[in-house]
Amino acid sequence: MESILKNAIENNKKWTEFGQVASYIPELAKGNSEALGACIFDTNCNMILGGDYDTRFTIQSVSKVAILICALIDKGKKTVFSKVGMEPSTDPFNSLAKLETRESHKPLNPFINAGAIVCTSLASGDNGIEKFNRIHNMIKRMTNNDEIEVNHSVYRSEKLTGNTNRAIAYYLKGANIIEKDVEDVLDTYFKLCSIEMVVEDVAKMACVIANDGIAPWSNEQIIPKEVNGIVKAIMITCGLYDSSGEFSVNVGTPAKSGVGGCIMAVAPNNMGIAVVGPALDMHGNSIAGKKVLEELSQQLNLSMF
Ligand code: DON
Repeated sequence: MESILKNAIENNKKWTEFGQVASYIPELAKGNSEALGACIFDTNCNMILGGDYDTRFTIQSVSKVAILICALIDKGKKTVFSKVGMEPSTDPFNSLAKLETRESHKPLNPFINAGAIVCTSLASGDNGIEKFNRIHNMIKRMTNNDEIEVNHSVYRSEKLTGNTNRAIAYYLKGANIIEKDVEDVLDTYFKLCSIEMVVEDVAKMACVIANDGIAPWSNEQIIPKEVNGIVKAIMITCGLYDSSGEFSVNVGTPAKSGVGGCIMAVAPNNMGIAVVGPALDMHGNSIAGKKVLEELSQQLNLSMF
């Protein structure tokens, strides 16, 4: 298994040249476009690291998985899906287009920015700080790492430049889909995107989801099984935005990407995988990371289809 991971990284390192680090959040432009690393963590707690596995990155949209988990646990499936849809989108992750044209004004799904902002507002807590703590705690439990923290330079950069997200959130407030203070919800969302990790942390989060919501290191049920199932379904249909279909054909596992360059993949009842490669394709997904996952899926027979 160690050599399979090593080869997958070496064989696909060349793809990093064809992508670009995200620059719309200025602090992300400092990411190392040549880095490529990965971690596999299986349900028996075996761990394999490869390539630039010590690269630190902000999780960005990978946080949307923990946000959705908390919204579903705290408010229930019916309430969550009365405010956000469950259908894939063919628009980019930060698009506003469908918010206005759909009759209900509901975001299409929990993983586009609009949907994640709504789910952030649904997590338990009377204010942004309490909501952040709620979701941050979930992330600490899913990574088995109490030291997970926000990268404050990225957070400040997101907050200063997050005008598209601001437009989305104010539109949602106008449509009565967000009830709380908009700036407070946005601040929480920016902080969650700016949480910093290494691939080991993300692979452990993915492994909890692969293991029906149970942490394999403690046998604790962190995520109720029904919620865990919904999250896997949304990951497979919407996890890589407007290239989720292609990812399902070529890799075939639930997954979630972030513009920090991480992709989290869940091989049910088997393992969690995290790759990091900050050079992105035009959809905002790690270009080499996707290729590494394609090779791993073939070599380890991970596709669900
Ligand atoms: O809201 C944003 O634009 C970023 N903080 C996160 C977007 C993201 O990671 C999209 N993923 N590929």
